[in-house]
Amino acid sequence: MSVHKEVKRVTTHVLSEMKLHGEKISMLTSYDYSMAKLVDQAGIDVILVGDSASNVMAGNETTLPITLDQMIYHGKSVVKAVTRCLVVVDMPFGTYQGNSLEALNSAIKIMKITHADGVKLEGGSEVIESVTRILSAGIPVMGHLGLMPQSINRYGTYVVRAKEEEEANKLISDAKLLEEAGCFAIVLEKIPASLGAKVAKELKIPIIGIGAGGGVDGQVLVIHDMLGITQEFSPRFLRRYHDLATEIKGAVGSYIKDVKSQDFPNEKEQYD
Ligand code: KIV
Repeated sequence: MSVHKEVKRVTTHVLSEMKLHGEKISMLTSYDYSMAKLVDQAGIDVILVGDSASNVMAGNETTLPITLDQMIYHGKSVVKAVTRCLVVVDMPFGTYQGNSLEALNSAIKIMKITHADGVKLEGGSEVIESVTRILSAGIPVMGHLGLMPQSINRYGTYVVRAKEEEEANKLISDAKLLEEAGCFAIVLEKIPASLGAKVAKELKIPIIGIGAGGGVDGQVLVIHDMLGITQEFSPRFLRRYHDLATEIKGAVGSYIKDVKSQDFPNEKEQYD
């Protein structure tokens, strides 16, 4: 039986059913109405309105500059387009690490204005008070461990995380802490495949990987990367499903040529 094919609306409960039935969860980012509509219509399980919007939509080098209001703008646009999949909005840097009341207020603002299904935030024990407070307000929370892009200034590099035993053990105990607190799922980013598989096996909640191997319960990619819109970013974990950059440049090139040669507009493309 495919849980995915049976449901009209994906909920957090549906995701746990998928894990229970061994059905992998598909997740992609989207940040705007038109793209989210296509992604939902294609049958994705979860759309993440990622703070990677800071990179791919706004052209920033890191995810740090994006604001709460900008994330809300993207979240609202995505939710309007979606009829079936679950929508999770990233809490941006600086909106939940300070204190748990600020975290709660940020999460409430996201939920009230976007109508998303939940929020995602990065970190384990360091942010557990915020996670617990958001959850106690009835807001579903997705965790994020491993490579945490909002902490890039602490790491100084985007290399694979948790290769050493000490960091791997901390990741496992953080994952358990997030599960005990009540998170409905956790994203694991750029860690050894064996560690991803171990966490997925030891936890009941779904583990969704990006560069965390095939042994986890689902996969997530940034849509601009998997469609080949971004060209400069090529990590080992990325599979490109299209070369949209070439397609778009080709189409724009043809348009320019037609305008310059006065081929466009033709008789049928203008009014009497
Ligand atoms: O912001 C994002 O796109 C993410 C994914 C990389 C998981 O957090």
